[in-house]
Amino acid sequence: MSLQNINPTTTNAWKKLEAHFTTAQDLELKELFANDKNRDANFTITLDDLKLNYAKNRVSKETMDLLVALANETGLSNAIEQYFGGEIINATEGRAVLHTALRNNSGNAVISEGENVMPEVIKAKESIQAFTEKVISGNWKGYTGKAITDIVNIGIGGSDLGPNMVVDGLQYYKNHLTTHFVSNIDGDHVSEVIKKLNPETTLFVIVSKTFTTQETIGNAVTLKEWFLQTASNSDVAKHFVAVSTNLEAVAEFGIASENVFPMWNWVGGRFSLWSAVGLSIALSVGYDNYAELLNGAYQMDNHFKTADFDKNIPVVLALLSIWYNNFYGAESEAVLPYTQYLNTLPSYLQQAFMESNGKSVDRNGKSVDYQTGTIIWGAAGTNMQHAFMQLVHQGTKLIPCDFIGFNESLYGKVDHHKKLMANFYGQQDALCFGKTKEQVLESGVAPNAVELPFKVFTGNRPSNCITANKLSPNSLGKMIAMYEHKIFVQGIIWNIYSFDQFGVELGKEMAKKLLK
Ligand code: F6P
Repeated sequence: MSLQNINPTTTNAWKKLEAHFTTAQDLELKELFANDKNRDANFTITLDDLKLNYAKNRVSKETMDLLVALANETGLSNAIEQYFGGEIINATEGRAVLHTALRNNSGNAVISEGENVMPEVIKAKESIQAFTEKVISGNWKGYTGKAITDIVNIGIGGSDLGPNMVVDGLQYYKNHLTTHFVSNIDGDHVSEVIKKLNPETTLFVIVSKTFTTQETIGNAVTLKEWFLQTASNSDVAKHFVAVSTNLEAVAEFGIASENVFPMWNWVGGRFSLWSAVGLSIALSVGYDNYAELLNGAYQMDNHFKTADFDKNIPVVLALLSIWYNNFYGAESEAVLPYTQYLNTLPSYLQQAFMESNGKSVDRNGKSVDYQTGTIIWGAAGTNMQHAFMQLVHQGTKLIPCDFIGFNESLYGKVDHHKKLMANFYGQQDALCFGKTKEQVLESGVAPNAVELPFKVFTGNRPSNCITANKLSPNSLGKMIAMYEHKIFVQGIIWNIYSFDQFGVELGKEMAKKLLK
């Protein structure tokens, strides 16, 4: 079975949305709230402690019904079945898309191309657990008999951004091991990391699905050469492990087969942190926390698979984004986590969204005549309030925002947290309700004051409010999976293939040619 092939703009729902937009574009959030005292409750979806409040969007119940109709007409239910069911939905590469199998805690089989992938997944998890416990406990010894103190993840793109973001995000849960990430082919990057390392106590994790990526292999070679300045070839086995599908290339690099963790073609690089690509996460926060990250994602998977579309967090997020992208002409979306721990979440999501849905050819092989992937950007609050938020509040562009916040802080600094969350909610209110000329006058500005027009805020700028009790492996797992499924839904509705990335290849080829 393959994915259906429906140009979204030819559906009845799209036509109705176009007609609806002619009046809906004038929707005023202020009025929507004034006319519905329960708007917050009516536009909130929860999954355990994770809450999406999307009341501050320029949508009515009618808008949402039409968007859900669009999802129905473009075959979303069927596509979700194929996604979780291991069908070859990455048709351009002839692969299934099964990162969800990596966190499938149901005990049920997942069949792809006639085979249950779960035994392999479980085996890989067991070896991740055994290995990480050995390293963390100090039982894994380096070549001079010392325990490991530092981990270096060598990878790029999906083999770097996900693990890096989660290790940063879960810093609070971190153990004594120091984790470093080397990704850029810029030799200064690896040189700066080397300065901090002792070869006797460092474990190198080379992560590359293909094991051909120039940056990763270049950095791995440099680090191995540096290691061999003090150690010998027979010591490599104690200090280098790899995560890859390319066993031949790994062996050629000199890594013993018992030190190789598997990857599968049915896991895309940007969705791979749930596999052994997340080894540096498991090493940094321990296997139990890593398993809880996967469990959070599994809970989101179940919600996504079973909830009605109008009560489905990833589906609603995707539909709202399509509403702004395709009807309002919004070009970008900001992701704004109110926790310093998630400062790199926007960079991670940039790859996930933009490598997946940055496509202009549809599933018929024809150029699309409508907008697809949005530009994702953002940074942690409150810092970004003092950087780019001016443009979001008063600029000429419509930029829908995802505000992500947590009810509790991790270290219990209540006073700080109150201020943080006051800013979190304050920004959303300011974007939504703005400040009228009358309010500016009430605040003491004289009617003839030169600054009067500049102090008026139009408001009516949309945002989502995504909250959880606290930043934990579970809540982070849920949020990452939430965005993964949002990407999937958008790709289905836009009728594009979200799981290849041919656009990246040309640049790589050019660089190789020039290097020669
Ligand atoms: O940037 C392109 C890309 O192909 C990504 O999709 C991938 O995550 C990254 O390169 C790294 O690839 P690999 O894991 O094969 O080294």
